[in-house]
Amino acid sequence: MYKVAVIVGSTRPTSSNLKLAKALEKLAAGKLEFNYIDIASLPFYDDALWNDPPAEVIRLKREILDTDAVLIVTPEYNRSIPGILKNALDWPSRPYGESVWSGKPAAIAGATGGVSGTAAAQSHLRSILPMIGLTLMGTPEIYFQSRPGAFDDDGNVADDRIRTNLGIWVDRFVEWIAKTGTPRRALEEVERASSAA
Ligand code: FNR
Repeated sequence: MYKVAVIVGSTRPTSSNLKLAKALEKLAAGKLEFNYIDIASLPFYDDALWNDPPAEVIRLKREILDTDAVLIVTPEYNRSIPGILKNALDWPSRPYGESVWSGKPAAIAGATGGVSGTAAAQSHLRSILPMIGLTLMGTPEIYFQSRPGAFDDDGNVADDRIRTNLGIWVDRFVEWIAKTGTPRRALEEVERASSAA
């Protein structure tokens, strides 16, 4: 089963994007293991901090290394991605040449109350993610409108047709990981190699 680093671009406990990620996790049961990444504790990016890297940054890079793929589920803020998400994307891309995103299969999704379904934010992600080395799945896409009643009491997407389509999306993401990913190296092996360098 593939292990996926899941980054939600909203830290609100009642986030509709967190709900969407959890609904995708249910649909992916037995196929993907979701590992939710804490991005709220990261400091703002500062190149000088690499002299003595913050523990949260080291932890984040280790967590990314230890996964087969990346899933970003994000709201749209003022026609782009939230700053907290950009910060979380920037840290693991550095120091130069040591991006832990490199070669990882990735997919994106987003939820909003509006009809645009985070299309503008996702369009920005489509510029950013290849730049940091992620191998982004082009289609299918998820533009989720989070209206009242969008999720049932068990956290499933309530609409049958949309839930079916999200299930198809999950299967395509699994295929994308199988096709484009490289087998994850054991974390210990990666750390031995980097400490020997
Ligand atoms: C928003 N929201 C928003 N929605 C949208 O569709 N397009 C946008 O450009 C924006 N801009 C925006 C800016 C800021 C600063 C905030 C706080 C909100 C609304 C936003 O998508 C909505 O609040 C979502 O529900 C937030 O996601 P979570 O927290 O529910 O996951």
